[in-house]
Order: sequence, then structure tokens, then C-alpha cells
Amino acid sequence: MENNKFLDYVQAENKVEPKDVMPEDYRKLLVRQISQHAHSEIVGMLPEANWISRAPSLRRKMALLAKIQDEAGHGLYLYAASETLNNGANGADRDSTYNDMLSGKAKYSSIFNYPTLSWADIGAIGWLVDGAAIMNQVMLMGNSYGPYSRAMVRICKEESFHQRQGYEILMTLCKGTKEQKELAQEALNRFWWPALMMFGPNDSDSPNSQKSMNYKVKRESNDDLRQRFIDVTVSQADFLGLKVPDENLKWNEERQHYDFGALPWDEFMEVLKGNGPCNKKRLETKNKAQRENLWVKEAAIAFAEKQNVMSKIA
Ligand code: 3HC
Repeated sequence: MENNKFLDYVQAENKVEPKDVMPEDYRKLLVRQISQHAHSEIVGMLPEANWISRAPSLRRKMALLAKIQDEAGHGLYLYAASETLNNGANGADRDSTYNDMLSGKAKYSSIFNYPTLSWADIGAIGWLVDGAAIMNQVMLMGNSYGPYSRAMVRICKEESFHQRQGYEILMTLCKGTKEQKELAQEALNRFWWPALMMFGPNDSDSPNSQKSMNYKVKRESNDDLRQRFIDVTVSQADFLGLKVPDENLKWNEERQHYDFGALPWDEFMEVLKGNGPCNKKRLETKNKAQRENLWVKEAAIAFAEKQNVMSKIA
């Protein structure tokens, strides 16, 4: 299907399925985005895992374990969605995709390169990081590629639990001692700007957005989603009695939006280059796990091959 016909097809809100003919640059855009989304889910488990053994109660530990388990499942859906685009030569098979992350060649969300220094950070991650992810993923439920859009439906349902458990952690801390409320404020101070950077560069600096929107993958721009996230989150911070760390934050009656300060884009670019606080540690952890758990994969493959042989003999 030549490109114009394909564009007409997706712009008429039709879904593309794995076996449909599709332009190579559409396929490439999806492999890039879906695989990086999957990497984000998997690497995103690490900062939170740091607090499983330190959770302040059994209830908090159980909720955190359930959330982290959900993220592993999200990664699985998304790797599976990315594999539907594998044409045998484009490196969209599971091993190539995963190895691209392990080698540092492929990106994952910048936010996961920040440390979790206190229990309040686990609350801030649920509230802000999963809150930003929901903003982006609800938009992606409407994307033109069937498997990706359907994966988003279940992921978004689970993300809302993630966001609520995070917000409840902060609400508990804010109703607690002075020191506990200070922990919550300190977590907001550290996670506010990196959460805003999750939405990507400003539209004017985004090399992929135009094509992504033409193909109805990205349905709203980075800046629009960021603005909506700020508009809904500020009042949530107010309810907690926490101060958003942006002295330029101000409600603009005319725009009916919050005006906000300039993002630290130099920091963003450094993190994307691999120079964030935890980039090195995250990849070292993933590579160590890959080496130490290779036997599980080999055993599963050997078992499957044996089953295959047995089924032929029987
Ligand atoms: N972290 C890392 N890289 C980022 C980034 C971020 N926060 N924002 C942008 N980038 C990268 C892009 O990948 C692109 O690089 P590439 O061409 O090498 O892939 C470059 O910066 C330019 O950005 P663009 O805006 O042009 O790129 P996109 O059109 O792909 O938009 C995006 C970026 C909005 C992140 C888009 O890729 C997207 O929607 N991805 C899927 C959703 C996602 O990844 N969400 C965040 C993590 S999921 C999560 O948080 C899990 C939750 O359960 C906690």
C-alpha cells in the first residue's frame, strides 16, 4: 500500500494489524517506541525494588510488590507487541531488542535514572511518574497500531492503582510527623522536574513527533500532555500541603493553564547520553541479572525443545 493510501487509512482512524502491509518507516517508528516503552517498564522496576525490603509495613510491602509485578507484565505485553513487527531482519525479535537495552544502544525513560533515597520517593514515583505515564498511555490507547493500542488498555487500568497507592503513601506521610512531611516535600522537590521530562523534549525540539502524529501513533504532543499533567497535579500537591518546586508556577486565567518555569533540558540531555545519577548502575544491574539468570532461559528452551520432540514421537 503506497504511503498516501496508508496515511489516508490511519488518518481515517483505522487500526493497523501485524499482517497488514505497512510503510517501513511506520514499522521502524513503532519498533523504536514500543521497545523503548518496554525497556522503561522493566528498568523502572529497579528503583522501586530498592524499597521492597524497607517498606514500613506488610501492607505497603504487598502493594509495592504487586505494583512491581505489574510493571514486569507491562514489559512483557510491550515486548510481545514489539515482536509482532519483527520482519526477520529489523531486529525486532526479543533478543535483539533486549540486547539493545543491555548494551545502552536503546533508550528507556530518563526518570528511572534517578535514585530512590527515601520511602517518600516510592510515593512520589507512584503519584508523579505513574501519573505522567498514565497521561501519556491514555493518549496511546488511541494509537493506530492494534497490538500497541490494545496493550495500553490493560496497562492503563493497572497504572491507576499504581498512582493511587503512591498518592496514599504521601498522604499518610503528610498527615504524619513534621519529619515525615519534610520527607514528602523533599521527594516532590527531587521528582517534579524529572517527571515533567518524561513527556519528552519541547515539540519544537522533537524529531519524531510530526511523523508520529501523521501516522496517528502519537495523538497529542509532548508539550500538550506535559501541560495537562501540570494542570491536574498542582491541585493534588496543594491538597497534600506540599509546594511544587517551581517559583514561576502560576495559574494563568487567560490561558486557563498553569504557567511554569523552564525545564532543565541540559540535565535531560545528559541523562539521555547516559550521564544521569543511576544510568550506569541500572545497566550494570540488568546485565548482571541477564548473566546470572541465563540458565533459566536455557532450561526453558531445552524443555520446550524436548516437549516438541516428544510430541512428534507420540
Ligand atoms: N526518556 C528517555 N528518552 C526520551 C525521553 C525520556 N523521558 N523523552 C524523549 N526521549 C527520546 C526519544 O526516545 C527520542 O529518541 P530516539 O529517537 O532515539 O528514540 C528523542 O528523545 C526525541 O524525543 P521525541 O519526542 O522526538 O520522541 P518520541 O516521539 O518517541 O516521544 C515519548 C518520546 C513521548 C517518550 C514517546 O516515545 C512515548 O510516548 N513513548 C512510550 C511511552 C513511554 O515510554 N513512557 C514513559 C515510560 S513508561 C513508565 O513510566 C512505566 C510506568 O509504569 C512507571
